[in-house]
Amino acid sequence: MPRMTILIGAQWGDEGKGRWIDILAKDADIVARYQGGNNAGHTLYIQGEKIVLHQVPSGAFHEGQVACLGAGVVINPLAMQDELEKIKKIKGKPLTPESLWLSARAHVITPWSIEVDGLRESSLKQPIGTTKRGIGPTYADKAARLGIRLGHFIKSSYTQKWLEARCEQDENFKRHYQERKQEWQSFIDSAKVLAPFVCDVEGRLVDALADNKHILVEGAQGALLDIDHGTYPFVTSSGTGVGGAFQSLGAAGRKWAKVIGVAKAYTTRVGEGPMPTELHDEAGRHLASKGAEFGATTGRPRRCGWLDAVALKYVCQLSGLDGLILNKFDILSGLEVIRVAVAYEHPKLGRLDRFPWDHEVLADCKPVYRDFAGWKGDIPTQGHFSDLPPQALHYITAIEELVGTRVMMVGTGVTRQDAVFPNS
Ligand code: IMP
Repeated sequence: MPRMTILIGAQWGDEGKGRWIDILAKDADIVARYQGGNNAGHTLYIQGEKIVLHQVPSGAFHEGQVACLGAGVVINPLAMQDELEKIKKIKGKPLTPESLWLSARAHVITPWSIEVDGLRESSLKQPIGTTKRGIGPTYADKAARLGIRLGHFIKSSYTQKWLEARCEQDENFKRHYQERKQEWQSFIDSAKVLAPFVCDVEGRLVDALADNKHILVEGAQGALLDIDHGTYPFVTSSGTGVGGAFQSLGAAGRKWAKVIGVAKAYTTRVGEGPMPTELHDEAGRHLASKGAEFGATTGRPRRCGWLDAVALKYVCQLSGLDGLILNKFDILSGLEVIRVAVAYEHPKLGRLDRFPWDHEVLADCKPVYRDFAGWKGDIPTQGHFSDLPPQALHYITAIEELVGTRVMMVGTGVTRQDAVFPNS
């Protein structure tokens, strides 16, 4: 058992990471999230009940385990308060300071950041399609050294000084603060609820690793939304790849880390930005309706398309993935032909085998497809690859070859049990 397993989204988010985290978490001592905030939405099905978590790692439902948020996460304290209530109701008992650690270094999403996110989106000629949860402005304030860390937020005198300084420095902030006093007061009051959970998470992780504990690291969003390596500017504002994990949680676990990527057996994307394999036909409608492709956070319909092996190979290589989980494989059942993009054709640059850095180039790319025969009827939801129809097995093997990474699990349904494994 590696001391650290890092699970990242290998596409544009919504790959179904939450469920796999929930499955893998049974062998972990600590489940840690390293970036993003309540823009994420991880859907779990526990005892037949659907649960969507936005901030607390999906591992929080396992007994005797620690769920933690690292320095690179941005935390909405009011939304966190609601989420703690929701978890208490489902679990029948609250999370305790022993079972939930919030990094003192994490930055706080303020009512102002949420306001700015909405204003920026509506003023942009070409909006990003953000979740309007204040994520971008919070990371921007952090980089500009204007933000407030959770460890400081829970000291009321510090928050007061910070508010005064921000009001003095920014007229718009001041107006917002004065006009929305009640909203700001609830925000400030939420510090008391979070205070017991705030600690030196990164220091505790160093100790835990030294003590042979197993840490499961949970990515949010997906590697193609990474601030540096994604389809900028149509990205989120954090490091969603493996690098982001070490930046946020510390690199003490580096030498033991095993990195797993989760991808759907097709592609989805929410928000704006190029997506070469996007479909607007019957096959696209099949994926959207059978896959119930609506955002867990905003409820927006997800754009659906064929698997993009160029983009997936880029992520596998860049993140040095040790294995791939191919999720929602059952959604492909019933399609006569299944297509996979194996290269792009650009009107000026010709054939591209590598994912381009430039979103304008990507927007002009047409996929070069390889076609695979589909299969009729449903696939077995459990068992081994040899139990799958030969066409399905052929599809998996081809993907492994195209992206140069081993498929270590295939997701075949929504519950913890629905998974098919390699034969050896
Ligand atoms: P933001 O993270 O709210 O700033 O949004 C930036 C981009 O990331 C938009 O295209 C969002 O749709 C996308 N995004 C953010 N969170 C998620 C997620 O959890 N799943 C999928 N897309 C996301």
